[in-house]
Amino acid sequence: MKKLYLSVIALVLLQVCDAFKILVVFPLPGKSHNILGEGYVRHLLNAGHEVTYITPYPKKNPHKNLTQIDVSDNMKGIPTDLLSIQSIMDKKVDFDDTDMLFHFFTHIAELTTKNENVIKLINDPKQQFDVAITEWMFSELYAGFAPIFNCPLIWSSSMAPHWMVTRLIDEYTNPAIVPDSQTANFPPFTFTQRLQELWIQVSTTFKKITIYDKMEENTYNTRIAPVIAKKGRPVPTFDEVKFNASLLIANTHVSLGQAMTLPQNCITIGGYHIDDVVQPLPKDLQKIMDDSKHGVIYFSMGSNLQASKIPGELKKGFIKMFGELKQTVLWKFEENLPGTPANVHILHWAPQQSILSHPNCILFITHGGYLSTTETVHFGVPIIGIPVFADQFTNVERAVSMGFAQRVDLAYDMVDKLKAAIGEVVRNPGYKQKVEELSRIYHDRPISPGKELVHWVEHVVRTGGAPHLRSPALMLPWYQKMYLDLLALIFVGLVVLGIIVKRLFVSSKKIVKQKTK
Ligand SMILES: *[C@@H]1O[C@H](CO)[C@@H](O)[C@H](O)[C@H]1NC(C)=O
Repeated sequence: MKKLYLSVIALVLLQVCDAFKILVVFPLPGKSHNILGEGYVRHLLNAGHEVTYITPYPKKNPHKNLTQIDVSDNMKGIPTDLLSIQSIMDKKVDFDDTDMLFHFFTHIAELTTKNENVIKLINDPKQQFDVAITEWMFSELYAGFAPIFNCPLIWSSSMAPHWMVTRLIDEYTNPAIVPDSQTANFPPFTFTQRLQELWIQVSTTFKKITIYDKMEENTYNTRIAPVIAKKGRPVPTFDEVKFNASLLIANTHVSLGQAMTLPQNCITIGGYHIDDVVQPLPKDLQKIMDDSKHGVIYFSMGSNLQASKIPGELKKGFIKMFGELKQTVLWKFEENLPGTPANVHILHWAPQQSILSHPNCILFITHGGYLSTTETVHFGVPIIGIPVFADQFTNVERAVSMGFAQRVDLAYDMVDKLKAAIGEVVRNPGYKQKVEELSRIYHDRPISPGKELVHWVEHVVRTGGAPHLRSPALMLPWYQKMYLDLLALIFVGLVVLGIIVKRLFVSSKKIVKQKTK
């Protein structure tokens, strides 16, 4: 009986003490990355944990269990004008350039380790964490936070798993069936696409190993290793650290792309950035949307691009074309435009999720960011994608292949094409049907994305880094996985056999010769 009491008390205590200290590292100066980081923070705080968040976008009056580490200085790492629509249209920037991506993101990672606030955090002997969650985005340096605090590591990927992240927790994906994150190929691939995917994987791996991994290892050795040493612990190598994650949580769901073979330490959770309860629309917007008999078209190019940098003639073209539509158009744009027609409403700030959830919203014209694409499937709204950079091309291409999108490219003559695309999506019910079908698949899950996220983070802490999920693929060198050692053995065996046979043949000839003499 006494034992029972004790265990009941222990259980109650466990419940009370179940709050963990969690480090969430999302230092990229990009709003969409921050939205995902905030997704983690919000769900973990709601579950009662204490969170320290490394972010370039610290909030005023944070939650009492949230400590923010301000890395807004990372914004200085962005070249000015990088994201202006004009410079993209004039083809001054090339986002397909993987070298540019590696240089940019490793630079931001280095800036992060040099940030005063971060230096203070990692050198503070009182700081302790139960787990570190760090974003993977063309840089692996953030894995270094785990050995600094001697805690397990969770990688977060902002998109569907691809070879560069799966190799960290398991193996390279097969280029014949899984596309690179930057290509717009959708399986099944043609012969040329398969070749292209193989080439990207092989050539990028080569560059990564010979250039970028070295750069990051260097930063690890100079900026992170000394901190670990100062804490009196043995310093692991950078490779030991980055291939030691307990889990990879990828921001995706099978309804948003393709089915994949994934290791058990890779968890796909899509949609955790979306609020569990959609916020009500502001009154005026609610009225506009309620009153739109022919439906509402929502046009937003996302938070990365300043719409006000769109060339003037294009703005005029949009306004004129939108004015000719019978639908209501909500355009998220930073500036007021002269001569805006009655059916067009410019919104300086738009509650995107609330707009998409309104039953009268019939079409979303978007840059095709991964978060926006997720939201369209979540709310079941077909899209017209105008991809601008990075993975947006892949996302839009995928949505087109899946049948709920039209693609229009950013160009000076795009207004007519956009008008034709709007006509097509509005008239043809197939787009809406398809996105609703995907939406049903998306919502048909045993547990909400936020709860699932919290579960897996807690699981890693509760099981001391989830070693049971670790992939055996990480324990074998590549040549053993490809059975090259067996191949070598067979080769040596054949050579030896060849020599023996030759010897026997020669000596038997000699015997024959001797006999005939
Ligand atoms: C690898 O992770 C485990 C569990 O999270 C941890 O105990 C171990 O110290 C880590 N090893 C290295 C070399 O970082």
